[in-house]
Amino acid sequence: MHEPIILGIETSCDETAAALFRGPEIIHQITATQLVHTSFGGVVPEYASREHNKLLGPVVKGVLEQAEMDLSMIDGIAVTQGPGLAGSLLVGLSYAKGLALGLDVPLYGINHIEGHIFANFIGQKDLPTPFLCLLVSGGHTQIIHVESPQSYKLIGQTRDDAAGEAFDKVARLLGIGYPGGPLIDKLSRSGNAGFHRFPRSTFPDSYDFSFSGLKTNVLQYIQKHEADFIRNHLADIAASFQEAVVDVLSSRTIQAAHDLGHERIVLAGGVAANSRLRQRMTELTHTHGLEVFQPDLRYCTDNAAMIAYMGYWKALTKKQDSLDIAAIPNLKLSFGG
Ligand code: KG4
Ligand code: ZN
Repeated sequence: MHEPIILGIETSCDETAAALFRGPEIIHQITATQLVHTSFGGVVPEYASREHNKLLGPVVKGVLEQAEMDLSMIDGIAVTQGPGLAGSLLVGLSYAKGLALGLDVPLYGINHIEGHIFANFIGQKDLPTPFLCLLVSGGHTQIIHVESPQSYKLIGQTRDDAAGEAFDKVARLLGIGYPGGPLIDKLSRSGNAGFHRFPRSTFPDSYDFSFSGLKTNVLQYIQKHEADFIRNHLADIAASFQEAVVDVLSSRTIQAAHDLGHERIVLAGGVAANSRLRQRMTELTHTHGLEVFQPDLRYCTDNAAMIAYMGYWKALTKKQDSLDIAAIPNLKLSFGG
């Protein structure tokens, strides 16, 4: 039996993406970022599903052409089942079901969050479990004990905004555009992270996070100063804000790893692309004698490679889904313990 060829499809938010895998290895991937949302300063759900409808066919055709393959060579279809925007998920799921039915191949519904977590190991046939995962995206900020795929324990989580959301909101307050995370990251490189000390919220008896106070603090700081001062120190303020977020994320994760006896830390999600977070986690894990895994940059933000890779794991264990699975906008990891 040859390694299964899996087509992965991801349409949970504003990236229309497809990837082709042979076994655990990626052959090709295309991620089309929808540009229609830029002028709105955030994702407009109706536009997102309309764009997925328009882009998904050409994107799938594109990966097949790049790979010089055709649909008849595909052994299974992996598709994001949730979490995400209902309409957007539906476009990808319906398309995947149609293909699976037409080609008579298995359908694998994938949890987008699991995709992010295991994106670190794309290409590998072995997973270095157990590990402690810091999952930081636009919708999630969690520290998770990962025993194996499907077996998770929640260690800590945000009590209000997700880290990515904080980046996006502060970018809007500073008027530097959307999406905020990558722009703040870039701007911060020319700023002084010690310019202003924004507050760090932590909880003494828990590994939970909170970022809404920090966001309010940035707003008050902006209101207190002249517009010219803010304009002249944009990079310094961005870097100081980023430092506060990175400081809290990294120190609490290291503390949890220490307390729970973990030797491996895995970063996952869009904010795992942040250059300062990556640098700080590398330094701190080195100091504490821990191992750190950080996903390749192209697998941090939403992509279909991580979905196809999880499809590969499902194919290996023959965990095929029925053609009547539903899109689940609020799908969670199941924290059994
Ligand atoms: O994982 P993701 O692509 O989508 C979700 O599943 O939410 O994460 C998107 C989030 C956005 O909030 C974006 O601003 C943030 O990740 N992000 C970053 C960086 N790149 C993306 N935040 C900080 N620094 C970055 N370089
Ligand atoms: Zn995501």
